[in-house]
Parts: sequence; structure tokens; C-alpha cells
Amino acid sequence: MSSGVHAELVCFSASCRERFPITAVLYNCPKCGGLLEARYSGPRPSAAELRDVFRQRRLSNLPLDSSGVWRYRELFPFLDDNAHVVTLREGNTPLLDAPIAAQYGGLDHLTFKHQGFNPTGSFKDNGMTCGASQARRLGMKRVACVSTGNTSASMAAYAAAAGLEALIFLPHGNISFGKLAQALEYGARTLEVEANFDQILALVRVLAERLGIYLLNSMNPFRVEGQKSIIFEMLDQRDWNPPDWIVLPGGNLGNTSAFGKALREAHQLGLIQKMPRLAVIQAEGAAPFYELFHQGGELHAVTHPETLATAIRIGDPVSWPKALNEVCSSRGTVEKVTEQEIADAKAMIGRAGFGCEPASAATLAGIRKLTSAGAIAKNADVVAVLTGNLLKDPDYIYKYHTGKLETPNGSKIRATFGNQSTVVPNDPDRIAALLA
Ligand code: F0G
Repeated sequence: MSSGVHAELVCFSASCRERFPITAVLYNCPKCGGLLEARYSGPRPSAAELRDVFRQRRLSNLPLDSSGVWRYRELFPFLDDNAHVVTLREGNTPLLDAPIAAQYGGLDHLTFKHQGFNPTGSFKDNGMTCGASQARRLGMKRVACVSTGNTSASMAAYAAAAGLEALIFLPHGNISFGKLAQALEYGARTLEVEANFDQILALVRVLAERLGIYLLNSMNPFRVEGQKSIIFEMLDQRDWNPPDWIVLPGGNLGNTSAFGKALREAHQLGLIQKMPRLAVIQAEGAAPFYELFHQGGELHAVTHPETLATAIRIGDPVSWPKALNEVCSSRGTVEKVTEQEIADAKAMIGRAGFGCEPASAATLAGIRKLTSAGAIAKNADVVAVLTGNLLKDPDYIYKYHTGKLETPNGSKIRATFGNQSTVVPNDPDRIAALLA
């Protein structure tokens, strides 16, 4: 921890604000059930000192400095000793221009922050390095999560690297093989439960208490601390010049909470002078946060969430109170998109030369809707966060391009930008004729 900084856990609920030691093993406030967040007080370096030290560390080969998360460690100083850190050199993900995708989205210019370039291929690594490090600091032996696939792949990798036992709970039949394969290869004990994500989360909370396992789902406040680094790194890559909009997909809403917290803290520390607006995009069949944002009141869970973007197939997002606060205070918005819109936007991101997994493509589909409605201006400075790698879900890609992709209720998805392979004989004349 940087000298003199005090870290503690604080209940996020405005009517409670109960405080707990940073080493308390808690996921919710024991007093009111609210979400918890890490808070820091005491002397902090100036913005100029921070910017300078972050830039200097890019020249360093030390493990902590060459991690695109721990490079920003003064912005989440919850550890008492950096010896607890487990890092796979996560982060360090690129900001990529995509003119074709920009045009498709109705923008003059669009940049993607591609979290699929992480060690396990998703943004979860930014948070998991912090969650796994806190597990080590607490002396935990076993860690667990429920996951739509990426959290489990990431947790399995970091647990393996940290020497922790990993226990993974997955919704049977509803995660991509790429993600399941990762968990198996990294050696995690993997249980496929015949229930959906929301139901399994309730189950895992009971089991964690009963078996003394450390939970690494996104309501774990240290996961959120790590995911803030996605924003810090993006701002650093833009020389601390914030965009007008940051667009991201929303599932359990941990990332939305982390992005909002990162922006507020960067603003308070003087690292940025202006607050970007957050636009959260959900899949139409799993859009409780969209309904909440536009109708107000409490969140009404979707009992049977459905989307081919299985990463965001979540009907009862735990972090909605934090996410709602962040979207509202950033003067942001929430949009929802159809399966066809996600599939076509995904193909356009592929044409940019990097691609992404289905949930990530909700961003471009959402941008297209928001620009055509006039909510985002054509000349706005927009960064969209691609949350997962193209190869996470190859089955989806193959089906789309061959016209075999169907929505969960069985309607066909058009291969608007389809691209099929052709079988040819081993004959140069016929191949030359075909290519003429
Ligand atoms: N994109 C991808 C690729 C994801 O894997 C997830 C969440 C999200 C977006 C949504 O992020 O939950 O913070 O709003 N995946 C979780 C998992 C739920 O288990 O891997 P969120």
C-alpha cells in the first residue's frame, strides 16, 4: 500500500454506509444487505506525480510494472504487501481504430478498447488478478465462482497461478465450449448445474458460507477495483484526455460499476477534467437494467433470460444499484439490441481485423441505435469496450456465416455479412477458373 493510505470496505447503500476492515470476508453488508465497495483515505500523490509514475513504469520489466493493472496500483491501494500479488501480465490491451465499424455505427470515428487481448481472452483478468491477490492475502485455500464462462476461465487461470483450488459452477448447456475448455485446461474443479446463472449465484452464496470458500464473482469488491484499470489504462493511452462516451455491454453489471467508480476517482484525483458518459447495452432477451433505467423504481428480474450472447444471459444482475448510480451520475444511457443486431455488428467488428465474442458486439449494435436516435452525435469521441476475444465462441461464428444461426426461440438469423468457405478439387485449372 502506498504510504499512509487507509483502505476499508464501505456499504454502498446511501442509508447505511457501514464500514468494515479491508480484510473482512464479506460480499454484502451484514447490516443491510447492500453492496460493498473499497474506499481509500489519507495522503495521495498528485495527478502529475501519478501520470509520471504510470508512464515510467512502461519502461520497467518488473512484474508489477509490466502488468496493465498493477501499473496503476496507487489507484486501488487495498493490499498491505505487494508480495500477495498474482499476475499473468494482464491488461496492456490495445486501443484500436475501426473505420468500417465506425461507419456502420453512424460515427465519424470509433475506437475499441479490446479486452480480448488479455491472458485468458476477456476483461475478467483485470479484476481477477486483484480478487486472487486478496484471496492470497486472506490466506484462503479455495476460491469459487458462478459464471457464464469468462469469469470461470479467468478464475481458473489465476487460481492455478496462485496455487489456490478453483471450484467453478456453470449453467449446464449455456456456456461456449471455448470457455468451458479453458476452465478444464487450467485444472479447475468444474460443476455444470442444471439451472441458470441467477439461480446458481444464490446456490453458490450458500455453499461459500457453508464450506468456507472465497467467492470471486463480480460483487467481490476487489474484482471491481481491478476492473477500474480498464478505464485507467484507456485514459493513459489517450494521454488522460477522456472521450465523450464509453460504451460497454451489461450483464451482471460489475463492469459498469467499476467503470463509473474509476471515472469518479480519476476525476476527484485530478487525472481527468471532464466526465465521459456511460452507455450500457443489453441483449433484448436479458434486459432488466434497460427496463429499470427507462421505467424507474426497483429492478424487476427477468426469470428466463435468453440470448445467444451467453456471456450476458443474466436476468437478475446483482450490481444494479451501483450501475444505476454510475450511469445516472455520468448522464449516460442504457440501450437494448436484438439477436440479429448483435450478430451483424459482430461480423462488422470481424471485418475490422480483430473481431470479438457476441456479448462484446452488443456495443456496436447499441452505438448504431443510439446514433440513429440522435442520442450519440455523429462526431462524438466514442470508445467501445470489447469484453471478449473472437475465439471464445467459434460455434456461433461458423453458424452465422453459414446461415445456420437461430435465435433462442428458433427464428433464423440472416447472414447479412456471411462469408462461406468453398470446397475445391486438388486441381489448379479449376481453382484458377473459380478465382478468375
Ligand atoms: N461481456 C463478456 C464477454 C462477459 O463475459 C460479461 C460477463 C459481460 C460482457 C458483462 O459484464 O457482468 O460486468 O456486466 N460475464 C460474466 C461471467 C457474468 O460469468 O463471465 P458484467
